[in-house]
Amino acid sequence: MTVEQKNNPKIITACDFADINTAMSLAEKLSPEKTRLKIGKAMFVRYGIHIVEELQKLGYEIFLDLKFHDIPNTVAEAVSAAADLGIWLLTVHSSGGAKMLAAAAETAAKKQNPPLIAAVTVLTSLSSEELISVGITDSLQNQALRLAKLAYNNGCNAVICSGLEVAAIKQATDIEFLCITPGIRPAGADKNDQIRIATPASAIANGSDYLVIGRPIIQAEDPAAALDAIYAEINASNSPAPQN
Ligand code: C5P
Repeated sequence: MTVEQKNNPKIITACDFADINTAMSLAEKLSPEKTRLKIGKAMFVRYGIHIVEELQKLGYEIFLDLKFHDIPNTVAEAVSAAADLGIWLLTVHSSGGAKMLAAAAETAAKKQNPPLIAAVTVLTSLSSEELISVGITDSLQNQALRLAKLAYNNGCNAVICSGLEVAAIKQATDIEFLCITPGIRPAGADKNDQIRIATPASAIANGSDYLVIGRPIIQAEDPAAALDAIYAEINASNSPAPQN
């Protein structure tokens, strides 16, 4: 099966825009069979649930990336409100701790259509030096693994992690525990502010279940063609070598 996997597309396109018209125009160019859409803080702060509902009307499943990080009760209330939007997945920060993660997972599980709870491990924009500057002296990989295990042990369904940490996380948790990878850059693409990047094919080969891709798709002249090209790159590298 190709990685488009009908009804379960592997690529989540990050709708990181400042205005709703640009987001809707992107949604019209892409298709829900090939991608889910991620709504982050900028769009949600400007347009609230309206943007989620408009994209759902076009058939898209929504990844609500608000990265909740607060006391357990506040996060549980936020998860409950987000779940009522009928979204596919939402994010919390694993560094909020065991009780916060458990509160998020338990709240979601009580809902009729529970969203997946994905915990952010170490942001893909962070380097080891920056981690030290916030008081974490352990290696970046160990910290990502620690936060992934915390999320797994407290009922979360997934983690957001770089393509470089997926294999170790799968090994330390469960093959079914979803790894969602941002910081994806096709060969030759601009890194922008991302540090721990992986190509789409290498992230999938390492075991990533879903890829979050923003600028390489949304800033392309033809976003639909850029999305197709990324699938083609993954499929080509996953195909068995031709026999002579
Ligand atoms: O444009 P780019 O492909 O770098 O976009 C990546 C998206 O993934 C952004 O919306 C960013 O907020 C999100 N993200 C990330 N690193 C994380 C979690 C989410 O880059 N750890």
